[in-house]
Amino acid sequence: MAAWRSAATFAPHSGTIVLPYPEAFGASDGMAKKSQATWGGRFSKGPAELMLNFSESVSFDKRLAPFDIAVNRAHTAMLHHVGLLSRRELKAIHKALDVVEKQIADGKLKWDAAFEDVHMNIEQAVTKIAPEAAKMHTARSRNDQVATDSRLFLKHASESVVKLLKTLQRSILSIAEANQNVFIPGYTHLQRAQPVSVAHHLLAYVEMFSRDIVRFEALHDAANWCPLGSGALAGTTLPIDRAFAAKHLGFVDKRGNARLTTNSMDAVADRDLFLDFGHACGVCATHFSRVAEDIILWNSSEFGYVELPDAFCTGSSLMPQKKNPDSLELLRGKSGRIIGSLQSLYTMVKGLPLTYNRDLQEDKVQIFDSFDQISICLQVLEGTISGMSFRDDNCATAVSDAGLLATDLADWLVNEGVAFRDAHHVVGSMVAKAEGLKVPLNEVPQADAKKIHRKLGGDWRVVFDLGRAMKAREGVGMPGPKQIKKQIARWTKAYAK
Ligand code: ARG
Repeated sequence: MAAWRSAATFAPHSGTIVLPYPEAFGASDGMAKKSQATWGGRFSKGPAELMLNFSESVSFDKRLAPFDIAVNRAHTAMLHHVGLLSRRELKAIHKALDVVEKQIADGKLKWDAAFEDVHMNIEQAVTKIAPEAAKMHTARSRNDQVATDSRLFLKHASESVVKLLKTLQRSILSIAEANQNVFIPGYTHLQRAQPVSVAHHLLAYVEMFSRDIVRFEALHDAANWCPLGSGALAGTTLPIDRAFAAKHLGFVDKRGNARLTTNSMDAVADRDLFLDFGHACGVCATHFSRVAEDIILWNSSEFGYVELPDAFCTGSSLMPQKKNPDSLELLRGKSGRIIGSLQSLYTMVKGLPLTYNRDLQEDKVQIFDSFDQISICLQVLEGTISGMSFRDDNCATAVSDAGLLATDLADWLVNEGVAFRDAHHVVGSMVAKAEGLKVPLNEVPQADAKKIHRKLGGDWRVVFDLGRAMKAREGVGMPGPKQIKKQIARWTKAYAK
């Protein structure tokens, strides 16, 4: 739980704000009038209350507050740098930002739907303390502001998911390491195919999640471009210094040079990062859903390969004997929700003309939910896997099925000079014979075997030694014991704390 809470913390440059904020949200009287205070100059009448409730986003985008405050600090510092704010004004605004930041962290700021979103709520709160903040929105629009806040959020979110993925990887690796000598059937078509070590099977998960890490790291890099200064869509006539603000916010390359978006229209219309994040979450969820399905099967009485930790299972309200793998079932179920968010984002963005359209306000709903769900899912999977133990006896029984080494027998014939297609056919006949005699493949009598192929007059039964079968598979990526040790060492090094 602690880690999942800390997934919602952010330290822009100094000081950490912990999310989620306590609920302090509510619509207030005179909403329409207040709302006009920010953009109401051209309106003779305020919006209907129904419209305000419909259009507000502060109920969900308030979690952008730490990023919005960081953007306000950077933007005003830049305004001072170019001479659009005096030192005194800047000081007053920064002091007020500190106060509002603390109010938010303490759950004391009253979020007000009349001010629509997190940006206007913060601006109003700051202006109430320091009237100088009437200049805070100089040379800026909420369009470039929300784009900048979102990029900061996505940088933070991808970093946080990578941390959770690495913790998961370490747990899978330690279970793999402990189960290098436990063997189970590997499956294709959910039919027993060939034997593998439990470690080899678990290392397949490590591969899957390592690709997720790469995806989230790439997303972090793609988010690292600053759109601030793009204005509503066409920049500003005021003499701003975009690089100054970008550097202040950490939008820099390895050498410390500012990374700036290069088309103001694209910068405020672009939601690729949201799609990328939705996709990265969707693939990751697809991975943990498949892992969950494997373990659900392994946990069934029919397989009986694993024992799950009580802490991540639940009982039945009716059947006293039941211990259900609910954590894994929910992981499988939640993957649908996470994939659905990506679909929502695509549908929302695809028909929009450039540039900003209010539809885009809904983008945050999806990525916040995906981030929250992926974060808790990865922790639950980690908890379930690290508390899981393999039932060696059942695994040994399942893997003792000699049919699993039928392919090895064909390979043995190949080594004896038989063409593989013929060898395949020969072993097929051996399998049929074994079935007919109701004996395991390795117990087909020598006389029968020899009749099927003359080469089977020799010591073909050697292939039915599991240890030999595994040692025969030492090519890169194969389940041979040396190869497994190598892979475990490689990944352990990669994910060392
Ligand atoms: N709350 C808005 C959003 O998230 C901020 C941008 C509003 N821009 C505007 N032109 N109304 O999309």
